[in-house]
Amino acid sequence: MEAITQHVPVLYQEVLDLLSVQPGRVYVDATLGGAGHTRGILERGGLVLGLDQDPEAVERARALNLPGLRVFQKNFRHLKAVLEEAGVEKVAGILADLGVSSFHLDDPQRGFSYQKEGPLDMRMGKEGPTAEEVVNTLPLEELYRILRDLGEEKQAYRIAKAIVEARRKAPIRTTTELAEIVRRAVGFRKAGHPARKTFQALRMYVNDELGALAEFLEQAKEALAPGGRLVVITFHSLEDRLVKHFLKESGLKVLTKKPITPTPEEVAQNPRARSAKLRAGEKEGA
Ligand SMILES: C[S@@+](CC[C@H](N)C(=O)[O-])C[C@H]1O[C@@H](n2cnc3c(N)ncnc32)[C@H](O)[C@@H]1O
Repeated sequence: MEAITQHVPVLYQEVLDLLSVQPGRVYVDATLGGAGHTRGILERGGLVLGLDQDPEAVERARALNLPGLRVFQKNFRHLKAVLEEAGVEKVAGILADLGVSSFHLDDPQRGFSYQKEGPLDMRMGKEGPTAEEVVNTLPLEELYRILRDLGEEKQAYRIAKAIVEARRKAPIRTTTELAEIVRRAVGFRKAGHPARKTFQALRMYVNDELGALAEFLEQAKEALAPGGRLVVITFHSLEDRLVKHFLKESGLKVLTKKPITPTPEEVAQNPRARSAKLRAGEKEGA
């Protein structure tokens, strides 16, 4: 039997409490995914402009036919253009729940999983260079820097060298080939799969996740109506740092002195929530 992927929304109640949805007002879900959070906004009477860069996520969301939801296949780094297209100037709240969804991780063809064999793709938006192109073409120094900075991988140099040596013999084509190259380079690890950080780093690079986030945050601040709230869930320390500094410098009122994290019960039910950190800010002047 084929496993049915379901994406369980992270910090669901916390997000909805912070957005404090008012009926008839417009909200942006910048990372629509399986529309879990969006359903909560709609159930409370809000209207949603939902963005996802992934054509498959967009198709699934459109097929739901949820009243009050308009779906855009766009990277959230183009938030301003989406609002212009929608004819909306200011919104009451904006949510970004970053990273990949269970749909991505569960489908070997998308290339995000180091456990399931598939092409080394990793592009959420299905555009631009794939992870295969990255691992087979970037110079050693650059691969090293990506693994060190985006993966916070302690053995970045050793892994980058192993990749370069392997590709000299034959191009690296699949997720499991890459995972095996990493495993051979660094050996067994107590904490998780040895290729976890390498895959994370490549995914963040392929999708320019930090670049898109920085551009999005600026536009989100501009798009909020007075009293409007920005809620961001991150899964990576570099992203969390970016959001934390942005909120501090942005002039928004910080609503989360410390990030909100999931309860142990939530993590037990949904392991993907494990590293989630939620931060929120409010535009003054309500
Ligand atoms: C963690 S999931 C969101 C899940 C959603 N909150 C839910 O409850 O079902 C992240 C989604 O955001 C999308 N995404 C990630 N980065 C994006 C970006 N820069 N622009 C637009 N969509 C993005 C991914 O394709 C994925 O579908």
